[in-house]
Amino acid sequence: MMKKVLGRHEKHGAPDVSTSVLDAATTSAAGAAGAAIVVDHLRVVRGTRVVLPDMNLQIPAGQVVGLLGPSGGGKSTLMRAIVGVQVVESGTVTVLGEPAGSPALRRRVGYLTQAPSVYADLSVRANVAYFGRVVGVGADAVDRAIADVDLTDHADALVGNLSGGQWSRGNLACTLVGQPEVLVLDEPTVGLDPVLRRDLWEIFRRLAREGRTVLVSSHVMDEATRCDRLLLLRGGQILSDSTLPDLLARTGASDAEGAFLALIGQAAARDAASGVSGSDGQEGAA
Ligand SMILES: Nc1ncnc2c1ncn2[C@@H]1O[C@H](COP(=O)(O)OP(=O)(O)OP(=O)(O)O)[C@@H](O)[C@H]1O
Ligand SMILES: [Mg+2]
Repeated sequence: MMKKVLGRHEKHGAPDVSTSVLDAATTSAAGAAGAAIVVDHLRVVRGTRVVLPDMNLQIPAGQVVGLLGPSGGGKSTLMRAIVGVQVVESGTVTVLGEPAGSPALRRRVGYLTQAPSVYADLSVRANVAYFGRVVGVGADAVDRAIADVDLTDHADALVGNLSGGQWSRGNLACTLVGQPEVLVLDEPTVGLDPVLRRDLWEIFRRLAREGRTVLVSSHVMDEATRCDRLLLLRGGQILSDSTLPDLLARTGASDAEGAFLALIGQAAARDAASGVSGSDGQEGAA
């Protein structure tokens, strides 16, 4: 099972994260002022496929950044590299001034995997408490995380008996429980109804107001309007890294979906003109 929160903060003990977030975000983002995550010439090969050929990217601290793009474009792979669980061929990923995956980041980075990884035979509370113990937080934090995802009424239910949406919210509670400074959330709202999606986005916005950095992948284009910045990834390449207003101005589209389709269409046309095979998704694992 993938751990949701990667270990314990070693350099500075176990800080009160709620008060340390802003300091961490503003002082330890070495290499790029205000950047929580810096990706420098990252190259990832999975199997025989070059998934990320040469990625350069900075993710500002204290913002909600949406990671969007066609299936198979490399979103999960980039997220895995940011949390330090992806073998990389070359390049670097720096998170809060530390190399991705380093022990110093283990408590400070929360990761929600695309596939739920809570224990089906434990209750919601037992799952969240387990991850809470891993990061050294108490019962209050467990209750808060469960309330944040609106599962208080089901806290004592076995995860295996929950609906799909409740299951994914239980998964998210495990990621939130340690109040990490950087949250990497791989499709956290997939399969949820509009009300729950809205509530979760309000949580993400609140986390950003507290100074946390939230990187969220999604296929739901209306969620783009809730992000401070948008990254559009296609075929391992960043087609766009901007705010939504800038993206709309650049493409002349009236909404995020239209803008993304325009950029993806332009990229596909460029690929066709240069003889590169397109990679607009629906790819199987190599
Ligand atoms: N374990 C693996 N071994 C080999 N190739 C893989 C593996 N996992 C993913 N890939 C390939 O890496 C590429 C990027 O996959 P990735 O999961 O990062 O895409 P994604 O943008 O997250 O897609 P989705 O929106 O469907 O979740 C795809 O071509 C995929 O087939
Ligand atoms: Mg994915």
